[in-house]
Amino acid sequence: MAAREQKDVAILAIESSCDETAAAVVRNGREVLSNIISSQIDLHTLYGGVVPELASRKHIERMNQVIAGALAQAGMALKDIDAVAVTYGPGLVGALLVGVAEAKAIAYAARKPLVGVHHIEGHISANYIENKDLEPPFLCLVVSGGHTHLVKVAGYGAYEILGRTRDDAAGEAFDKVARAIGLGYPGGPKIEQKAKEGNPDAITFPKAKVADNPYDFSFSGVKSAVLNYINGCHMKQAKVPEADIAAAFQKAVTDVLVEHAMMAVEEHEIRKFAIAGGVAANMALRCAMEEACKKRGVEFYHPSPIFCTDNAAMIGTAAYYEYLAGNTAGWDLNAVPNLKLGER
Ligand code: KG4
Ligand code: ZN
Repeated sequence: MAAREQKDVAILAIESSCDETAAAVVRNGREVLSNIISSQIDLHTLYGGVVPELASRKHIERMNQVIAGALAQAGMALKDIDAVAVTYGPGLVGALLVGVAEAKAIAYAARKPLVGVHHIEGHISANYIENKDLEPPFLCLVVSGGHTHLVKVAGYGAYEILGRTRDDAAGEAFDKVARAIGLGYPGGPKIEQKAKEGNPDAITFPKAKVADNPYDFSFSGVKSAVLNYINGCHMKQAKVPEADIAAAFQKAVTDVLVEHAMMAVEEHEIRKFAIAGGVAANMALRCAMEEACKKRGVEFYHPSPIFCTDNAAMIGTAAYYEYLAGNTAGWDLNAVPNLKLGER
């Protein structure tokens, strides 16, 4: 399809890849007119993590109200919308299907173009919302519950993955460690809170290096080290120092993320660095990254916490640039649970 001419473009965006049912209206990619998020955290907390089938069922229950809410908050009806966007991967297949089927039905009925968005592209694009001057090229660290990617954003929709996790995602490690020390789900914010009462230097957890790609990450080692440490406490019938564990674990993960990110910054002639994804809401990570960037004279970008964790505004932002490039989807758009960044 030919690239479109630039004019005011309002996009209704839908996100349902995991445990957040979300819809938003975004104008011209960077102006969020509404952002409705219906979280399922209370439901999944009962099970200590996301139960995929329950997530799909909740999306079905809530999707229509969430979309109605997003349109109402934006003061718009479907006729005012230029395109309907939806996350079609990666994520939980049943959860994705709810959003994809809904977006197709709305777009078909309202005769609007449909735009399929990659979830990680959404996370990266969250940085455009509050940083109106940010434009590619820049480097971005995406750290979420399902992904840990160090990405070179060469242009809108143009991504080069420099490094990724070989095992657990950073957020997944936070969630597993939080469960091990009895803090509950989701672990990231709970660890961050607990870490404030602890000493990050009280325990040293390992920082894994991956031999053949210095940009790749591995978090299963630090997670196992925490579990072994806790077992050791139980064996000695000693009290588990939860706050020190949280602080030391958070430091181990943060240090590795900052080291790899700054290695990429130093090896690329790009003076802009951004973070994205749920773990980017972590203040310890943000402060460490900001300081490291400042030291190197690199401009640092991050979304507000509400745009770090899953939301549909970021999907509307990413969709805008896809729409401008003429990348609309057909009526055969399907959920792709393992969709790779940069693939269509
Ligand atoms: O981006 P997101 O909402 O969903 C995925 O795409 O995975 O990320 C959720 C992840 C969870 O693992 C959660 O524990 C983590 O982000 N997270 C945090 C914080 N807030 C959310 N991790 C560390 N510190 C936080 N404040
Ligand atoms: Zn996400």
